[in-house]
Amino acid sequence: MATADQVKALIRSHADGDDTRFYAIAMQVAAQAARSGHGKFAQELRELVDQVKARAKEVEPVRGPKAVPLAQPRGELAGLLTVSYPKTRVVDMALADVLRTRLDRILNEQRQRDRIREHGFVPMRKLLLVGPPGTGKTMTAAALAGELGLPLFSIQLDGLITKYMGETAAKLRLVFDAIQSTRGVYFFDEFDALGGERGSKNDVGEIRRVLNSFLQFLEQDESDSLVLGATNHVGLLDRALFRRFDAVLEYTLPTGDIAARVMRARLGLMDTSAIDWGAAVKASEGLSHAEIAMACEQAAKNAILDHSTAVCDTELVLALEERRGTHA
Ligand SMILES: Nc1ncnc2c1ncn2[C@@H]1O[C@H](COP(=O)(O)OP(=O)(O)OP(=O)(O)O)[C@@H](O)[C@H]1O
Ligand SMILES: [Mg+2]
Repeated sequence: MATADQVKALIRSHADGDDTRFYAIAMQVAAQAARSGHGKFAQELRELVDQVKARAKEVEPVRGPKAVPLAQPRGELAGLLTVSYPKTRVVDMALADVLRTRLDRILNEQRQRDRIREHGFVPMRKLLLVGPPGTGKTMTAAALAGELGLPLFSIQLDGLITKYMGETAAKLRLVFDAIQSTRGVYFFDEFDALGGERGSKNDVGEIRRVLNSFLQFLEQDESDSLVLGATNHVGLLDRALFRRFDAVLEYTLPTGDIAARVMRARLGLMDTSAIDWGAAVKASEGLSHAEIAMACEQAAKNAILDHSTAVCDTELVLALEERRGTHA
């Protein structure tokens, strides 16, 4: 029979919405019951757990006391999507004004989507993010999810295509079913895997087929989810793709101003009084947001290892220049 601890653990896992743990404890109880001669009860309990598990939808919102409705991809979907619940906000990003305005607009339309729909219009929700590595595309997906309190589902298309050669279209259908049934931000990264004619000759036919079904799914999708595609290679993309998106957001390497903001934000917890920002900005030319952030982290850690909170100016410049060196 279940011990008091097990009953408490069951209740706790239920309250936390932790299904995996809940089932695991139930199975433990069953195993214990079997060992102590209650075979029938053990059998019934196992069957009950199996039934309940089978009934759980492929993507099921987990009810719990949390503010954010949690969702976990189930079954086959689990291998196609990864879910996270980012806390990132748009203010965490150093963005060019144009981009910030566009993101604010998208968020505003999403927040008032019911009003917009009541009047027969559709809020912007299919977005294509284009730009060089490390300029904030993935971060934007996280910030949109964070701002709207939605789960972020990431789909690695490269992986999808190579792993499920020949059945990618069927897998995509599963993903689009989830887009329909569970509101979230769905982020198709490495989008060029679909959009471009990349890969070996044998892949091209498959990629074309997948691209066509993706376009069809995207066009038919009238859900409430946000669907984001990101790519580094705008040149490779099929023009037909652009038409299917409500907006194309362009990411670029940071201007001096933005670079300084990335640095100030990254070094926010440190003493930066010794830093010559002009020199640092100059040293950061040509680097992406991500590379600048990493150089700052390195300089900050150097300070910490030296038992100081003050970031050394020359070390920051050196770290930035090192990144530029690895760049070339
Ligand atoms: N606009 C930004 N403001 C502040 N930090 C940024 C910005 N863009 C990028 N970063 C920093 O760089 C990291 C990597 O950025 P991100 O993953 O969003 O780049 P990406 O554009 O998706 O690159 P890739 O094309 O390689 O996937 C972020 O986690 C963040 O630390
Ligand atoms: Mg990315």
